[in-house]
Amino acid sequence: MEHIYPIFDTILNQEQKEKLNRQKSLVIWMVGLSGSGKSTIARSLENNLYEMGYLTKLLDGDNLRSGINNNLGFSEEDRTENIRRAAEVSKLFAKCGVVTICSLISPTAAIRSIAKEIIGEDLFYEVFINCPLEVCEQRDVKGLYAKARKGEIKKFTGIDSPFENPANPSLEIRTDLHSIEACQAQLLNNILPRIKFQ
Ligand code: ADX
Repeated sequence: MEHIYPIFDTILNQEQKEKLNRQKSLVIWMVGLSGSGKSTIARSLENNLYEMGYLTKLLDGDNLRSGINNNLGFSEEDRTENIRRAAEVSKLFAKCGVVTICSLISPTAAIRSIAKEIIGEDLFYEVFINCPLEVCEQRDVKGLYAKARKGEIKKFTGIDSPFENPANPSLEIRTDLHSIEACQAQLLNNILPRIKFQ
């Protein structure tokens, strides 16, 4: 790029921020269908970590789409840009020593590999919130599946837009098989050793 002069070498680094915050950085990237339980589990993780004294930032697809991503829709191109921006923002937080929790459908392997590429393998922790489409649709917390079936919403993930299950996530949580409390505990127990400062 022309006429751009980054100053990365003089900016305080991640290690210095981790030391200041007394925690290790991590980007917890939560993937799954609408209604799978991503946001509920993400919120609970943030609350639990807050109670334990960790500094966190929760980035949720619905929230980002009403701010930084409010010019994006649900075409493949827009979803890719949605994820690219969320990943760049996550990286900024993680480099600042913040435990960053992202809750976005992230429907395809290609989209998720963009996020991983931007954030970097060391910081990227992919959590698949796995719940079969039939169960998500039955729950229909936001009433969106019913609208998608009636054709009132186009390109709805799982209905007329694809969702590819992650092949090799860092962690898989089955919200259709376990209680919400068990799912929250499973995530918390897997995250704690990774963000502990030593
Ligand atoms: S992503 O595919 O680009 O990762 P993101 O997580 O940001 O999606 O947004 C998904 C949220 O947008 C859903 O939880 C739902 O509330 C809302 N939404 C509105 N239209 C759609 C659609 N066509 N497909 C999926 N989600 C939609």
